[in-house]
Amino acid sequence: MTATYLVTGALGCVGVWTLMHLTRQGKRAVSFDISENRRRLDLLMTPQEQAAITFLRGDLTDFAQVLGAVEAHGVTHIIHLGALQVPFCKADPVMGSRVNVTGTVNIFEAARRAGLKHVAYASSIAVYGPPDRYPPGLLAHDAPFDPRTLYGVYKVANEGAARIYWQDHGITSTVLRPYTVYGVARDQGLTSTPTQAMLAAAAGAGSYHIGFGGKQQLHFVSDTALQFIEAAEQPLDGAYGFNLGAPPVAIAEVAALIEQIRPGIRVTCDADKPLPFPEGCDDAELKRHFKNVYGTPLAEGVRQTIEHFETCLADGRLSFEGS
Ligand SMILES: NC(=O)c1ccc[n+]([C@@H]2O[C@H](COP(=O)([O-])OP(=O)(O)OC[C@H]3O[C@@H](n4cnc5c(N)ncnc54)[C@H](O)[C@@H]3O)[C@@H](O)[C@H]2O)c1
Repeated sequence: MTATYLVTGALGCVGVWTLMHLTRQGKRAVSFDISENRRRLDLLMTPQEQAAITFLRGDLTDFAQVLGAVEAHGVTHIIHLGALQVPFCKADPVMGSRVNVTGTVNIFEAARRAGLKHVAYASSIAVYGPPDRYPPGLLAHDAPFDPRTLYGVYKVANEGAARIYWQDHGITSTVLRPYTVYGVARDQGLTSTPTQAMLAAAAGAGSYHIGFGGKQQLHFVSDTALQFIEAAEQPLDGAYGFNLGAPPVAIAEVAALIEQIRPGIRVTCDADKPLPFPEGCDDAELKRHFKNVYGTPLAEGVRQTIEHFETCLADGRLSFEGS
């Protein structure tokens, strides 16, 4: 049977990079997204390259559509990324729970009915509480969850559902919990502004202000997408969850790095307004379980992102509205 990957939320930031890597690796990808807007994918793939992908307009909240997608396209692997981000869940909690909680149960149930044995899906740093809740240093892989947003609560619910699907039906799952993802196509959600600062630098803007600070982990989106593919391809014997690693970095240092790469811009941040999470997570468990762990150095990822933005601005695929 040809390996076929269903990617949900495929036209979002991590999704388009996942579609790109799968296609470049010669694998069949089925895109499942409620949106039909390919503007993010156009930043990464030509129309000719996109022709290899099967595009479905589908709603995660509709079980029949999810099951239909899995069954009709001979899906063998699932990478479930579709979700509403923190601000959208806060603005519409009912819709947030339908997409993020029911949508994920729909994925597991469709996998079960279609006879699939494994699901890879996305959780988040938002399952954790504020730093004073934990011992100092990197967060241990088994640190207790203590979400302070509905989005985080919904992600915790997903991890619980995954455990029950393993317990009751023997379906394995691997969940990855990114901190802040950056790179081309990152354009919405609470923590997208470091990427917008890179876009501003590429556009030749004089200044950009990032409205938060503190230290955190930043993951290059290309690495995150590759890690999800790895998670889908290498089932473990249970419902496993992993934090992603990266050296914690101050947002002020990210700002300085952008200024160093494109000296024309002045990037500022609210240095004393950290995100309400520990500075970073220990990824020793991820490294213990997976052969490939992707970790492009920050300076390299930021440089690649700025250069990629410059190409897209020059050929009209992107515009910059200002901060
Ligand atoms: N970007 C980050 O920094 C970050 C950090 C932690 C966790 N995550 C998680 O990683 C995953 C991917 O994040 P992202 O940045 O690519 O998100 P994104 O917001 O860019 O993309 C989400 C995609 O889901 C789609 N979607 C929304 N509702 C849907 C529905 N009902 N049916 C089908 N599709 C629907 C959207 O159209 C969008 O294309 C998400 O689960 C997110 O919670 C992201």
